[in-house]
Amino acid sequence: MKLPCLKSSALAVAGVALVGCAGGEQGGSQRVFELDASDPIAGAPIPATMYGLFFEDINYAADGGLYAEMVKNRSFEFPQSLMGWEASGNVEVRTAGPAFPRNPHYVHLEPVSHPHKRTGIQNEGFFGVSAQKGKEYRFSVFARASKGQSKITVEMTDPASMGETQVLASADAVIEGKEWKKYTLSLTPEADVVKGKLRIFLYGDAVDLDHVSLFPVDTWKGRENGLRKDLVQALADIHPGVLRFPGGCIVEGTDLQSRYQWKNSVGPVENRPLNENRWHYTFPHRFFPDYYQSYGLGFYEFFLLAEDIKCEPLPILSVGLACQFQNNDENAHVPATEKDLKPYIQDCLDLIEFANGDTLSKWGGLRAQMGHPEPFDLKYIGIGNEQWDHFYPDRLKFFVEAIRKAHPEIKIVGSSGPDSEGPQFEYLWPEMAKLGADLVDEHFYRPESWFLAQGNRYDSYDRKGPKVFAGEYACHGAGKKWNHFEASLLEAAFMTGLERNADVVEMATYAPLFAHVEGWQWRPDMIWFDNVRSVRTASYYVQQLFSHNKGTHTASLIMDGKPIAGNADQAGLFASAVYDSQDGAFVVKTANVSDTAQVVSIALRGLKPGLQIKSYSVTSLHSDDLDADNTLDNPDAVVPQVKECRQVGGDAISLRIEPKTFYVFRIKVG
Ligand code: AHR
Repeated sequence: MKLPCLKSSALAVAGVALVGCAGGEQGGSQRVFELDASDPIAGAPIPATMYGLFFEDINYAADGGLYAEMVKNRSFEFPQSLMGWEASGNVEVRTAGPAFPRNPHYVHLEPVSHPHKRTGIQNEGFFGVSAQKGKEYRFSVFARASKGQSKITVEMTDPASMGETQVLASADAVIEGKEWKKYTLSLTPEADVVKGKLRIFLYGDAVDLDHVSLFPVDTWKGRENGLRKDLVQALADIHPGVLRFPGGCIVEGTDLQSRYQWKNSVGPVENRPLNENRWHYTFPHRFFPDYYQSYGLGFYEFFLLAEDIKCEPLPILSVGLACQFQNNDENAHVPATEKDLKPYIQDCLDLIEFANGDTLSKWGGLRAQMGHPEPFDLKYIGIGNEQWDHFYPDRLKFFVEAIRKAHPEIKIVGSSGPDSEGPQFEYLWPEMAKLGADLVDEHFYRPESWFLAQGNRYDSYDRKGPKVFAGEYACHGAGKKWNHFEASLLEAAFMTGLERNADVVEMATYAPLFAHVEGWQWRPDMIWFDNVRSVRTASYYVQQLFSHNKGTHTASLIMDGKPIAGNADQAGLFASAVYDSQDGAFVVKTANVSDTAQVVSIALRGLKPGLQIKSYSVTSLHSDDLDADNTLDNPDAVVPQVKECRQVGGDAISLRIEPKTFYVFRIKVG
């Protein structure tokens, strides 16, 4: 049968090319998929949260990444106060009479008497201050003048342009008064710059400067304390169901002191105290001594982000354990008593109030003051990240008791530790069930062989126990630590098992999410970026294809007369099926991990009288090179291809599927 092509439909996504229909049935071995279409909504409902996002400030994902601030160490709070800055003339770091008590350091600039010298400071940005010609940037600073009046000149520069520094944009601020005040300037560079600098010169009497900030005006939704537009767009384009934040290990911190404390991440940004980033020194070969958390992207911004991209927020808070990989003796942790854990438990209760509480409450009031009187409708909270041993349940129980008592409506996410199997995993799952956790977070960064073997992982999970949150996972190629196509294919194969088990898997998030090409500590990652561009990996597209085609109900699928096995035994095909009640479409996903082409017929068994196939689309993700990778310079090496095909009548389609390819077939009936 020759299938005429239609034009691209709503299925087409950014970066997806429309190709001609090539529906043929020749060549390759024959397979029959039979899908029970008799009662399309009889299957398990697919949780709306199913495919989501895991955000952690690793690989410069926040400062230097999603958070659009361009000045590094803007508050002079890094342990070496001028880290990220160069000073010339009379510059001193001081703390007397600070502008912001929780960020007390600031710089004092005194004039120099030399006729050809000038006092000034220059910031290197995050891997450069990168700016685009003709775009507007908002500079701001808190300042006071020792003698009541002075002047500063602010410049965006390109130090490398034609062998000498070029000033690309410049503006003056007259500093008036001996009290701290905020000054804002607009800068529009006259040329592009990647490795630029921001500099401030003193023209006049002494001044004090603090919280020196530079943002593009064109942030996501134009917010002043905003996020990078292209990066948020990439998140929104996934149509995620859930956003987990703020990590990962940074929830725990290197030690308790450096754990992520959400209360420090809300309120005026200038007064959010700097925190160490646990990821600055993990691997000796990737040592970033200047990696800190400004908390400019804090919990308020995370909640807003989840709201913007229309998904459920899932905050994870400390359970009173420091990162057990780094510090794991009893003294490193909060003692396992209710009394000692009280402040940590209170943090959880207060967070729920911050998200959902009345505006007359303390924390709900702060949310309103920050600009969001409506509640954020928080439904989930995670307690603890990759914790293990009795340390974890010994503490978690007090949290569960307190949260259940005050907020029975909130679902609690516990953890099964860092391993996808083994003694800790075996120990922790029953412990979580005993404590009544609603979901259990599982992590698996594993090689190809693991992903090939785990497509049926959830088939045998207890349907009466806690639900699964596959909270961190990615195929880490054995010896191939980058986002190669094969890894994404095996992730897709594995994910068919998540989908078939949507009655027990409530959410799943690939990890990590972001990485700066000049500042990564961990890979693979889902989205890579430099200061100007970003690239979606093949793994990104797999996540997107599952999410866009998640459907509303699981559908039962058999292959060659047998239930789908969820492993490579069935001719190297992994598969799952769902029904989408909003669209009247059945969706079959299959990853052909074999080296052979297959001819597959998909039959919709038991279609109600009067219903027939009207049209279908075939979306495929493939590369002839299993090692292929999307890069900033070649972002479309591996992108989905969509064919839209009309078929009038019948209850089956027949297709040739190629080796090493992931397919989504969307079959509309009517
Ligand atoms: O995603 C990177 C790290 O992997 C996370 O911080 C941690 O939870 C896991 O070990």
